[in-house]
Amino acid sequence: MFLLKQSILLFLASICCLFSVTTNASPVVDKYPRRTIAGVSVVDTPIVRSAQQYARQHGADFVYKHIMRSWLFGALILSHNSTLSQNVDAEVHAVAAILHDLGWDTAHSDGIVSSDRRFEVDGAIASRDFIRRHQHGKGWDERRVQLVWDAIALHTERKIAYFKEDEVQVVSKGIGMDFSGPGQYGVTQAEFEKVTEEFPRGDLKKGVNETIVWLCRTKASSTYDTWMQPFGEQFVANYSAVGNRAIDTIFSNL
Ligand SMILES: *[C@@H]1O[C@H](CO)[C@@H](O)[C@H](O)[C@H]1NC(C)=O
Ligand SMILES: *[C@@H]1O[C@H](CO)[C@@H](O)[C@H](O)[C@H]1NC(C)=O
Ligand SMILES: *[C@@H]1O[C@H](CO)[C@@H](O)[C@H](O)[C@H]1NC(C)=O
Repeated sequence: MFLLKQSILLFLASICCLFSVTTNASPVVDKYPRRTIAGVSVVDTPIVRSAQQYARQHGADFVYKHIMRSWLFGALILSHNSTLSQNVDAEVHAVAAILHDLGWDTAHSDGIVSSDRRFEVDGAIASRDFIRRHQHGKGWDERRVQLVWDAIALHTERKIAYFKEDEVQVVSKGIGMDFSGPGQYGVTQAEFEKVTEEFPRGDLKKGVNETIVWLCRTKASSTYDTWMQPFGEQFVANYSAVGNRAIDTIFSNL
């Protein structure tokens, strides 16, 4: 009798199991351990923690707060869209968002910031190296590494990034939200304010301006014909992109 009861229970349990597997078809969401930062649920894995530490070491205070907000805004965008959160690899999103401004490591001369590449590309290359070096990154397949590379390299080129893979889109949209504010992709004013209370953004304009002017001054060629060019034209005395723009090439060579 006892055995019979047991097997009925087991049978019921296995039906339950089957049922929950078939109805719960979105394991990606719960694939990773989580913690809460500024009211936002985020992925909590060793490589994400290391990325956070690495970004802290390779960026000014304003950069660190900016990358933290960008990550959290991206996580909020995901939390408001179940299709997106099922499709997006939250660890890929986190690592890319956290490392996206390594190319702004203006205080160090340890090889992250090149003399000739766009800062977005410096950041993408440094992040790929970071993942490959990391003991938990060695298991990443090429596609995940590529998504991080693309998300970082394209994060300022929204007219391209917004048509790429979901990870690339969400990284760029989370960063964009730090400049444009809430009210998009379901992110509310209250959620936004909770994040900016924890990571205040009062120094963002000054920090970005100084960094982009620095790039225009010290590696001007990487800024010609990009969104950074106007900073050089307005604030760097001997800056001139003329001769280095697509229009110059097209008109002089064709
Ligand atoms: C959720 O994300 C998907 C994929 O990017 C998008 O097509 C859809 O419009 C989004 N839904 C809402 C309600 O924003
Ligand atoms: C940007 O930086 C330039 C050069 O340092 C400075 O002249 C200008 O006032 C700054 N603009 C803002 C809005 O901070
Ligand atoms: C501007 O002039 C300085 C000093 O001569 C030089 O070091 C710098 O490379 C120049 N910058 C640009 C954008 O030409």
